[in-house]
Amino acid sequence: MLSGIQPSGDLHLGNYLGAIKNWGSRAEEFDCYYFMADLHTITVRQVPADLRRRTLEQLAQYIACGLDPEKNTLFIQSHVPAHAELGWILNCYTMFGELSRMTQFKDKAAKHADNVNGGLFTYPSLMAADILLYQPDLVPVGHDQKQHVELTRNVAQRFNHIYGDVFKVPEPYIPETGARVMSLNAPDSKMSKSMPEGCVFLMEKPEDIQRKFKRAITDSDTERCVRYDPEHKPGVANLMSIYSAVTGESYERIEAEFDGCGYGQFKPRVGEAVIEHLRPIREEASRILADKAYLESVYKSGAEKASYTANKTLRKVYKKIGLVAR
Ligand code: TYM
Repeated sequence: MLSGIQPSGDLHLGNYLGAIKNWGSRAEEFDCYYFMADLHTITVRQVPADLRRRTLEQLAQYIACGLDPEKNTLFIQSHVPAHAELGWILNCYTMFGELSRMTQFKDKAAKHADNVNGGLFTYPSLMAADILLYQPDLVPVGHDQKQHVELTRNVAQRFNHIYGDVFKVPEPYIPETGARVMSLNAPDSKMSKSMPEGCVFLMEKPEDIQRKFKRAITDSDTERCVRYDPEHKPGVANLMSIYSAVTGESYERIEAEFDGCGYGQFKPRVGEAVIEHLRPIREEASRILADKAYLESVYKSGAEKASYTANKTLRKVYKKIGLVAR
């Protein structure tokens, strides 16, 4: 298994429920690689000192979320040059038309109209390289990254068709609850750091989290009861899916639990459940972050292990396409 997150902002509940929470659970069955996708972040301008700080904070949070560095290979993308190397090669096997259809490209190009750079456009080829270097079976991601994993499959199949079986064709692995956490104050948009009032950050203070849940937009239907109906009650459905993801309760059980309660009682209860779920993660992440020597030892040995696997695939690719061996 392999996945990554861009350290372009602080980790939030969408990243956690859509991605990280599902990563640790299969460490016994799979050889797992998780990284900080720092090369991807520079497709949008970053403040250098913030990028460096957030990359290390993200590593501390991965570990605090249960990714044991003894059982999972945790590394920083730019520490494994094979990503950039295979990224260039896969650019030459990814079509202009395919890249033009990517929703994330269209969204980001609209949002950053003054900086629609080549990297933003070819981002999915680098992501395909991130994945294919490790020959994973599964790529655990939230719903919004499914399109990129599908493009990765197409590129792998195209390459294999020309050169024989070089890449394993991976499957996206999308959780049943939490794959699309929506903004608390705009339930028709996905939760993202660009809308901070509707976004709950993993390291946020409990009182701030509770304030955001109390202000969450619920629906203006007349019924005003807690019932799972994403089409007609998207705000309530979003809160129910968050509650389900952090407590493990089914929607039927949640409906029964809040039978007769109004939204005014329901919202702070969801807030409390999230706060209690995140508390140990926040405390553990702060503790780990203070130990810089430990973090350094984790990312150094992670890069070593990751490079070993990645370079095996890269050597094979170089040979297949006709580059002279070093
Ligand atoms: P990124 O950094 O935007 O998001 C990281 C992960 O969090 C998930 N996610 C969400 N899930 C549910 N609800 C939300 N509101 C929400 N917001 C984010 C994303 O689906 C993702 O799984 N291109 C990737 C990073 C990447 C990558 C890779 C991922 C680079 N290389 C290789 C997998 C494999 C990205 O921008 O994700």
